[in-house]
Amino acid sequence: MDDNGKTRDMLIVQAAGLVAVLCAYMATITTRARIRNYRAPIRYVMLERDVARLSNLRFIYETNDINCHDLLRMNRAPFYNLCNLFHDRKLLEDSIHTCIEEQVAMFLLVVGHNHRFREMKPIFRRSIEVISRYFKAVLYAIGELRDEMIQPPSNEVHPKILHSRRFYPYFKDCVGAIDGTHVAAKVPAPIASAFRGRKGGTTQNVMAAVDFDLKFTYVLAGWEGSAHDALILADALERNDGFVVPAGKFYLVDAGYAVRPGFLPPYRATRYHLTEFGERVPQNEKELFNLRHSSLRITVERAFAAFKNRWRIVDNKPHHPYPSQVKIVLACCILHNWILQWGEDEFVPPEHTWTGNSASDGVIDIEHDNRTWSQIRDGWAGHMFADRGNSCV
Ligand SMILES: *[C@@H]1O[C@H](CO)[C@@H](O)[C@H](O)[C@H]1NC(C)=O
Repeated sequence: MDDNGKTRDMLIVQAAGLVAVLCAYMATITTRARIRNYRAPIRYVMLERDVARLSNLRFIYETNDINCHDLLRMNRAPFYNLCNLFHDRKLLEDSIHTCIEEQVAMFLLVVGHNHRFREMKPIFRRSIEVISRYFKAVLYAIGELRDEMIQPPSNEVHPKILHSRRFYPYFKDCVGAIDGTHVAAKVPAPIASAFRGRKGGTTQNVMAAVDFDLKFTYVLAGWEGSAHDALILADALERNDGFVVPAGKFYLVDAGYAVRPGFLPPYRATRYHLTEFGERVPQNEKELFNLRHSSLRITVERAFAAFKNRWRIVDNKPHHPYPSQVKIVLACCILHNWILQWGEDEFVPPEHTWTGNSASDGVIDIEHDNRTWSQIRDGWAGHMFADRGNSCV
């Protein structure tokens, strides 16, 4: 190889090196831009309160995941991704004084801790009017994600069932569980009696279906606390855009609901929870069926526990008018699903420590029991018992 060739080769190597360095540099810029979708704030003269606010915001969502999670109930990745989504879809806009991150943070502090707007003033240095305006805007933006975040369950057999001799094949078509959960409500005195739930207190009864990934697959909020779960389910099924169980699939329900296509309750007047069995092993097919039904169902009920652990607003005395209370519950369900895309976190009770707290509301919907489905259940219970082997549960 002659000198010229060498020089040319070296030039190529150098050029390639330069290109690589440039690419790497561009990549860091673009990833950083993607992570934060960094939007430089419009510069204006900062007042003392602006300096204070920016430092508070930095502490809340810029320093680390621990602060972000404690205060905003989610890590920085779900938080920034959510803000970016709102930005890209034009559901929220940065204003001169308030970036989208700040608007969303205000909302999350309120629903995560049930703070009142006036308690937010020292953190954000904003008037109650401004906080309230952004709260509404974010509530609306989250609501717009409803159809995309609350999706019907998957048609695949969930690994939790597929890989379990206790559950497979009996529960292979089971897509999750349905339950009515009560959240605190505040309504005007003349209608308050309708909202008195069975456990006392004024409540809103929220019907929700959850899948085995603990995500909500359907939510119907707004019913008064005195309404029975079976009635709310009937309403959900009758609505035009209402609740649909995928063909051939079913949800687990508690003993207050009827047995019928799509809905599988345990046997009534039969031991149900593991705690009710104590040392005693299931004596017959109905008991064994109930025990497996309950152990599958309570793992899903963790979704409701996570929901209430994370969003303190749903379990405390409300400060908002009733229509907003309903929208807030929905928004919290949407956010719950959003956050679970990043996996379970410490608001979700761990499965091995969780014993459940699911009692039926006492009213039993016997009229709608479907004979065909009662017989199908008997068939499964019989097989389960015959095939129990050494495992008694
Ligand atoms: C009971 O379920 C079967 C099978 O899914 C269905 O064909 C039948 O119409 C149901 N009966 C009633 C009374 O709903």
